[in-house]
Amino acid sequence: MAKGLLISFEGVEGCGKSTQLALLAEALRQRGVEVVTTREPGGTPLGEQLRALLLDPSQTPNPWAELFLVLAARAQLVAQVIQPALAQDRWVLVDRFADSSLAYQAGGRGLPWEEVRKLNLLATGGLLPHRTLILALPVPQALKRARLRLSTAAGNRRFEDEEDAFHRRVEAAYRRLAQEEPQRVRWVAADGPPSEVHLRVLDQLEDLLP
Ligand SMILES: Nc1ncnc2c1ncn2[C@@H]1O[C@H](COP(=O)(O)OP(=O)(O)O)[C@@H](O)[C@H]1O
Ligand SMILES: [Mg+2]
Repeated sequence: MAKGLLISFEGVEGCGKSTQLALLAEALRQRGVEVVTTREPGGTPLGEQLRALLLDPSQTPNPWAELFLVLAARAQLVAQVIQPALAQDRWVLVDRFADSSLAYQAGGRGLPWEEVRKLNLLATGGLLPHRTLILALPVPQALKRARLRLSTAAGNRRFEDEEDAFHRRVEAAYRRLAQEEPQRVRWVAADGPPSEVHLRVLDQLEDLLP
């Protein structure tokens, strides 16, 4: 059996996904694991072009159009990056994956949950992460971090600038996911310094670590 695992990081903008993904990649490499890191939407040349379209602040895609754009990027990422890496026994750490569509396009934009779930499975060929870490930080705190971040791509503002109610719906959708799939989806408190959050992340992976 292949030993490759897919681990996804989820949570609102600014909660610390990119920071924790980098810390986990480093910790795994120190344990001798071959690690591939990537992000969604993006991670492939086609996916990065789709990301630019999605985050273009001059566009307001219809919610279904937004969903199909992220699904297209996801399908390409699975085929071009994730499946080949898993087949070579690598661990793949992905910054957002299918659960983001349930949080943002179903929860945030109001598309029907079950339909989004089914379309996710079509796009990924049935692949779900072996574990998903939702970094939980109160929305105002996360947005404060996101807005302080120097590297904030102007485009991310299309989501960051949504009204509070949107972010609360996203958060509620993440809670629902953690309740529906407690074995796969883990809730990680993301307050405190990055090194402390990292220890909580390792705790939630204990049964998978080599
Ligand atoms: N635990 C933490 N405490 C304080 N600031 C943090 C923490 N984790 C990340 N940050 C900072 O907050 C900002 C957003 O973090 P980032 O990892 O980019 O979040 P995300 O990828 O979820 O949007 C960055 O400037 C980062 O350095
Ligand atoms: Mg990030």
